[in-house]
Amino acid sequence: MKPLLYREARESDIPAMARIRAAEWETEEYWQRRINAYLRGELHPRDALRPRISYVCYDQDSLVGFIAGHLTRRHSCQGEVEWINVVPACRGNGIASELLRRLAAWFIEQKATRVCVDVESSNSIARRFYAGHGAEDLKPHWMVWDDIKLVLEKPRPSG
Ligand SMILES: CC(C)(COP(=O)(O)OP(=O)(O)OC[C@H]1O[C@@H](n2cnc3c(N)ncnc32)[C@H](O)[C@@H]1OP(=O)(O)O)[C@@H](O)C(=O)NCCC(=O)NCCS
Repeated sequence: MKPLLYREARESDIPAMARIRAAEWETEEYWQRRINAYLRGELHPRDALRPRISYVCYDQDSLVGFIAGHLTRRHSCQGEVEWINVVPACRGNGIASELLRRLAAWFIEQKATRVCVDVESSNSIARRFYAGHGAEDLKPHWMVWDDIKLVLEKPRPSG
């Protein structure tokens, strides 16, 4: 079996990224426009700075997960996780963890230490995921890493 492939996102990945987002909320067309504009730097989340990045994970020819994040001034942070999604059939296999490690390494390269993420209070799976990687509650809807290096310090599961 071929291993999973992780790499930086390309414009040609956007339709598949939009399909994953649209399975939870809004339409593919909405997400294609939004992701495209975000990655081109034409759409700015609040307090966002221009530098941003996205990584994707492929299983064979299928895009099974992606993450995106940018530099920011929000909540006295230097970085923000914008989106992270893994298709339901591939969850629980460490894909989001590997995507988060790649984004954390990018933040560290950018000298962004304190990183926030907007996460619904009711999204207990995502909260547990972030907490397991060292994030703490900041305020309703928000979690924060005081130092995103914590993500890279968590031992990877063996096997
Ligand atoms: C949150 C999400 C990205 C996690 O993806 P994933 O690839 O399944 O995550 P991983 O396999 O890397 O999981 C790592 C940790 O997350 C937690 N976790 C993941 N899925 C979980 C589940 N179903 N129940 C409980 N904890 C879970 C566990 O703590 C796990 O740690 P462990 O491996 O030591 O048990 C995925 O569930 C998802 O796409 N959810 C919908 C979108 C979403 O909520 N995004 C976040 C919005 S802020």
